[in-house]
Order: sequence, then C-alpha cells, then structure tokens
Amino acid sequence: MDLSELDLGAAQAAIAAADTVDELADLRKRFLGKKGAVNRAKESIKTLDPAERPKVGQAVNAFTTGVTEALEGREAEIAPPGSAEPPLDLTLGSHGRRRGHLHLVTQCQRELEDVFVSLGYRVAEGPEVEDDWHNFEALNFPVGHPARAMQDTLYVDLGEPEQVMLRTHTSPVQIRLMETQPPPIYSVMPGRTYRNETVDARHSAVFHQIEGLAVDRGLTFGDLAGTLETFTSAYFGKKVTSRLLPSYFPFTEPSAEFAITCVFCDAAGCRVCSYTGWIELGGCGMVDPNVFLAVGIDPEEYTGFAFGFGLERMPMLRYGVEPIKTFFDNDSRFLSRY
Ligand code: DAH
Repeated sequence: MDLSELDLGAAQAAIAAADTVDELADLRKRFLGKKGAVNRAKESIKTLDPAERPKVGQAVNAFTTGVTEALEGREAEIAPPGSAEPPLDLTLGSHGRRRGHLHLVTQCQRELEDVFVSLGYRVAEGPEVEDDWHNFEALNFPVGHPARAMQDTLYVDLGEPEQVMLRTHTSPVQIRLMETQPPPIYSVMPGRTYRNETVDARHSAVFHQIEGLAVDRGLTFGDLAGTLETFTSAYFGKKVTSRLLPSYFPFTEPSAEFAITCVFCDAAGCRVCSYTGWIELGGCGMVDPNVFLAVGIDPEEYTGFAFGFGLERMPMLRYGVEPIKTFFDNDSRFLSRY
C-alpha cells in the first residue's frame, strides 16, 4: 500500500494553512471521510502480510489521532465555540421610532406665557372644579345676575345645589391670586375651562383660556391697551394692530372686547374675518371696584386691568384648524402635523 498519503506532517501543515471552515471540512473529508485516506489505508491492511499488519495499523491510528487533533485545534481557532450560531435578535418592531411632542394647544400656551413672562408677568394656575364664590360671586355676578346665564355652566353634584361647578372661565384664578397675595400683581393664568355648549365648528364643551391680571397703583386703561398691543404684535407680528370696542363684563368697568386686524387678509376682508377686516380675540377691562372689595383690596389705593381669551383660537387662526374638536380628538395624523 501507499503509505505516503498518511504523512502526518504534511496533513498537519495543510490543516494549519486552511483559513475557512469550508476548507477544513474538505480536509476532514479528504483524511477521515468515508473514502478518505484513513479508510483506504484500513481497507488495504487486509491485503498485507499478517506480520506487517500491526505496524501499519499503529501508523494509521497515529495518523488518525494526529489529524483529528489538528482539525479540532484549527477549527477552534477559525470558528470559536458558539460563533457559528447567529446571535438571537431581540430588538422589537421594525416600524421606526416616533417621538412624541407637546400638543398644539400646549405649544401655544407656552408661547403666550413666554411673551408675558418677557413683559414681567408670572404664570399662575387654579383648580378646574370651582365654587360659586370664585367662579361667579366674587367676580361681581350676584345670584340671579343675568350675566350668569351667558355662561352655560356644568354643575358638579356636590354639596348644595349649584355651588360646585367646572369653571366656566379662567377669571376665578384672578380671585384666588388677589385673595392670597398683596399687590402689585402681574400674572397670566392659562387653563382648561368648561361650558355646556352645543358643539359646532368653533365651540366645544372643553376648551382653554388664558387670563391676565395686573393690579398696581396708578394703572390706567392706556396700560391695558398698550399691554394688549404689545402682546398681539409679539405673537402675530408687527403688522397686526389691535382695537378695543365697548362691551360688558360684570367684573370689569369699563369693559371692552379686543380684536386684531385679520392675519389672513391684512384687514382687507375675507371669509375668516367675515369680511370685516377684524378678528375678535377676547374680553378685557379695568377691574371693577366691587371685585377689589370682595378680595379685600382697597379700590381707592389700587387699580387694575384684566383680560381673557380662548387659547384654541390662536392656532386656529394661525394654521386654519377647524373644527375646534380637532384639538381634542387625539387623531395622531393631526397631532403629528404640528
Ligand atoms: N372671563 C371672560 C369669559 O370667559 C373673559 C374675560 C373678559 C376675562 C374680560 C377678563 C376680562 O379678564 O377682563 O367670557
């Protein structure tokens, strides 16, 4: 037989030179496979003279052991244990990650707060469930006052009938501020408000307002007008101007409605402003002396002004969002757009 095939040194050199798992598999087949060198040598032993067989048998065994060890050693170098199995992929989902962000109404609230903070105002908050004193009585709406009927109130079934309610406006926070801190007061009060409204394009039972209150010595209607003008041009831009028209609110005297020139048509007249050139934003006025008396501030020493308007109205005007319920539907297509 040709034992030159069983040259262990040559086999080890070939194994050491193999670089891939596939090459090693080929070598394993060549030496140890069914028709490989070892098996062929074993076959041929049968044909040998019996006296020679043990010697050749030992040589075959030594070759087999040497090649097996060399193959295993090289395998461990090329592909360490475990490396052949792909690691488990435990990452979740393949839908991409979407980042949440502030709701459009909150963005608007923060932006308005920033404008007023830059004018030296503070930001205050009050409860959404109010009592009759703060929501009406102290604001100079006595029981039976017709102005109460303007605010379609949602009452809470608690205590005496019609004594606890979801606040119909943010004005009660004015009362809470004046009850707890002495003038001077310069504050804005944003928050959620509720009315028993029939829902339509511009009205919703839940909405937001932002209220402003300034109480100090010597404040005049001119300070109110100037503050509103500063605020509207900071928020809507310099080309917008504001105007005040006489109005009525129980807690201010005199009272006014404030409007801005239409941001869509530059006051030329369009569908949004009903062809008037003006867009009404909210109410304002000088704090009524009765309100000061209700909270123990001397109306002879202090004067003040207040204003309040709907928050949704701002982004509705800016982005043309309608109907107002779009803000509360929580449709992610709307939410992710702004
Ligand atoms: N609270 C009023 C409302 O909801 C808005 C308002 C008007 C607030 C005049 C004020 C104000 O502070 O002075 O209709």
